[in-house]
Amino acid sequence: MRFPVVIYGPEGCGKSAWLRQVAVVLKKQDFDVIYVDVAHKEYIAYTDVREVIDKISEVIADITGYTPIKLADLIILLANQLLKKWRKKRIALLIDEVFQAIGVDKAEVYVKMLLNIIEYPPADYEKIIAIVTTSEGVSRAKIGRHLWAWLMSMWNMSESGFRELYEKIPGPKLSSEDVWRFTGGNPRALSQLYRSGWSIDLVIKEIIISRNLHTFIHSLSESERYRLLEAIKDPDTLLQQERISLLNKLIELNTVVNGITYREHDL
Ligand SMILES: Nc1ncnc2c1ncn2[C@@H]1O[C@H](COP(=O)(O)OP(=O)(O)OP(=O)(O)O)[C@@H](O)[C@H]1O
Ligand SMILES: [Mg+2]
Repeated sequence: MRFPVVIYGPEGCGKSAWLRQVAVVLKKQDFDVIYVDVAHKEYIAYTDVREVIDKISEVIADITGYTPIKLADLIILLANQLLKKWRKKRIALLIDEVFQAIGVDKAEVYVKMLLNIIEYPPADYEKIIAIVTTSEGVSRAKIGRHLWAWLMSMWNMSESGFRELYEKIPGPKLSSEDVWRFTGGNPRALSQLYRSGWSIDLVIKEIIISRNLHTFIHSLSESERYRLLEAIKDPDTLLQQERISLLNKLIELNTVVNGITYREHDL
């Protein structure tokens, strides 16, 4: 890999689940793998270097100072040590939700630090894989203005995979067509629906409360509210000059995913 990969996807689409699987796949290919969920202070390390595990556990256990930043910094340090001190040739750094935890303002610098490991490694290596995931749409624009990372979008589950998951849920339930339509294949939305006894109204109310959308709606002008109503029917209507500020507000709220300009497989 020539660049760190930054993966954007809506909340609950399966980024963490996927990244954990990546860890297992790369372990089988003889990588020393460090996976950290910076926001939730969880980690998986597949390495025979005891020091790596000890240091991560130490930082997570330490409650003085702001752990996420220390943890994010530690990954860079450990990557350098794995290459230089331990002469590892294949390393993978899998960093989950880092921007949320260290602050979107530090997203660019962090990606640059990962790129530096790839471009100016402290020792020879065979392969370095660095993957960062985020649902923060705001960080996308910040990273996108540099040529420091390969930005990729992730969407929810495929219809066949989602249906398989749906079939595993016991008891009476909404039809699979309805569930697919309401969730768009988002596995967390599926579990929300299940937990609420398949009440779509209840899930919608939960979303309104948790994101404080009620207050948000009242912060909008009359014309913005009308435009929002249109956008719910067709999100592409937001791509008009006088609607971009509304679009940006929705990105900030993580209710809209932007930047999938070309619907092309390679992108
Ligand atoms: N392919 C899958 N099959 C079955 N369940 C899945 C799959 N992908 C994700 N899930 C489940 O869906 C839920 C949400 O997934 P996950 O936590 O990976 O989402 P996320 O994109 O990391 O969300 P967030 O942005 O909030 O961190 C989890 O309970 C996870 O186990
Ligand atoms: Mg996650």
